Amino acid sequence: MERPEPELIRQSWQAVSRSPLEHGTVLFARLFALEPDLLPLFQYNGRQFSSPEDCLSSPEFLDHIRKVMLVIDAAVTNVEDLSSLEEYLAGLGKKHRAVGVKLSSFSTVGESLLYMLESCLGPSFTPATRAAWSQLYGAVVQAMSRGWDGE
Ligand code: HEM
Repeated sequence: MERPEPELIRQSWQAVSRSPLEHGTVLFARLFALEPDLLPLFQYNGRQFSSPEDCLSSPEFLDHIRKVMLVIDAAVTNVEDLSSLEEYLAGLGKKHRAVGVKLSSFSTVGESLLYMLESCLGPSFTPATRAAWSQLYGAVVQAMSRGWDGE
């Protein structure tokens, strides 16, 4: 896999990382629109959400959004040495497998991430920047996919 261009990643992340919760909410709203079956995987204290809106306004789910944005932030920080995150990401993959997430759903997460970046950055989300993000996200998912090894 090609390496993501660090400058394009860092520059484009600046605007997004100023309001992580807002942009993370755009990402997950898109994710539930594309793959509504993911909603039941989020349950806190055994309670199931009745709608994406219900989920997107719960404090526990907002914490998950913050966690996701922190992982992406770590990937941006370590864009030149993603191998330093490999063990952490493999463990994170394992946790997601344990809560019933299918590896294939991470493609939809990737689409939703690109959608969020585009809606935040507008015309400055150039094809080169999109390609850099696809590479970065691909590397993150590859590392997380080790959590599904042996399936
Ligand atoms: C298919 C989409 C996803 C689903 C259904 C999902 C679901 C979950 C669930 C149910 C939990 C446990 C409850 C919680 O902590 O809120 C969790 C934890 C977590 N998720 Fe996700 N998640 C998804 C995508 C992601 C992505 C893309 C990332 C980051 C790249 C991520 C990062 C985390 C982190 C950091 C935790 C906390 C793990 C810990 O407790 O050590 N999630 N996720």
